[in-house]
Amino acid sequence: MENKIKEALNEARQLLAGAKTSQQLEELRVRFLGRKGILTGFFKELGKIEKEKRPVIGKLLNETKATLEKELESALREIKKAESRREKLDVTLPGRKPFVGTLHPITKISREICAIFQRLGFDIVEGPEVELDYYNFEALNIPKEHPARDMQDTFYISDNVVLRTHTSPIQVRVMEKRKPPLRIIAPGKTYRRDSDLTHTPMFHQVEGLMVGENVSFGDLKGILTVFVHQMFGEDIGLRFRPSFFPFTEPSAEVDIQCVICKGSGCRVCSHTGWLEILGSGMVDPEVFKMVGYDPDEVTGFAFGMGIERIAMLKLGINDLRLFFDNDLRFLQQF
Ligand code: DAH
Repeated sequence: MENKIKEALNEARQLLAGAKTSQQLEELRVRFLGRKGILTGFFKELGKIEKEKRPVIGKLLNETKATLEKELESALREIKKAESRREKLDVTLPGRKPFVGTLHPITKISREICAIFQRLGFDIVEGPEVELDYYNFEALNIPKEHPARDMQDTFYISDNVVLRTHTSPIQVRVMEKRKPPLRIIAPGKTYRRDSDLTHTPMFHQVEGLMVGENVSFGDLKGILTVFVHQMFGEDIGLRFRPSFFPFTEPSAEVDIQCVICKGSGCRVCSHTGWLEILGSGMVDPEVFKMVGYDPDEVTGFAFGMGIERIAMLKLGINDLRLFFDNDLRFLQQF
């Protein structure tokens, strides 16, 4: 009898260890402690046992029953806890997204600008940021004494080597290598010794160039008008204002209607209603001669714009430095 009781307890414990639901626990309880259960059966048999042995076996039975009840109870508590946890878990909720970075707003705007010109048949090209004086200045008809070469503006690496101050040298490098007709758009970093609210020593520009047999000022106006409308919206007005650049003749700057006040005048546009966004012009014959093109055979136009400026206007950002602070709270908005 004693052995049978111990075996029953062992068996119950084994089953208990494997039980996973409160239902299984209940079945277990009935099997051992229920009215027809195994332990209950032993109690019924007590009467048949010799008198002297009865108290010992009775005690063992009572203890075994109590032990099993306790173990069942605590197992039930554990299972209930797990079950309620499972119930609270809403498996239809979307999962947690892994953190992924985003493109920098300057990169995005740069790609947006290039995409517009790509659709107009322009190829994307790049050039070196550490540039020869020749490409940055000389070949663009900016001679040695030109004020644009002032030590105040240019980072000189040596007498002949500079950090490019604009993306215009890419025009020259491309024309040296390719024959007309050509259409290129060239984004990149540029450097000037300038640092205040609206200037950073490193900034970005996009350069454009189109050369062919009968490229006219009308083409320049047409292409740049399409660009402005695609970038800022069909309802934004623009104007071409006469200007000067050493490498273009005639030259024009493009103003767009202020995107903030729509032309009525505000602080951003200094109450003029207009914002300058780029420089442009017909490629100067001197530049063509430098690259071996015949100015009697080809004409072309070029333009250059600051990407930060376009990004500020497009995204409504009023402080240039935000682009370079790398504050995630700022960057994550794009
Ligand atoms: N390189 C000029 C600048 O940095 C911008 C520019 C003006 C580029 C006129 C051009 C152009 O290609 O035709 O301010």
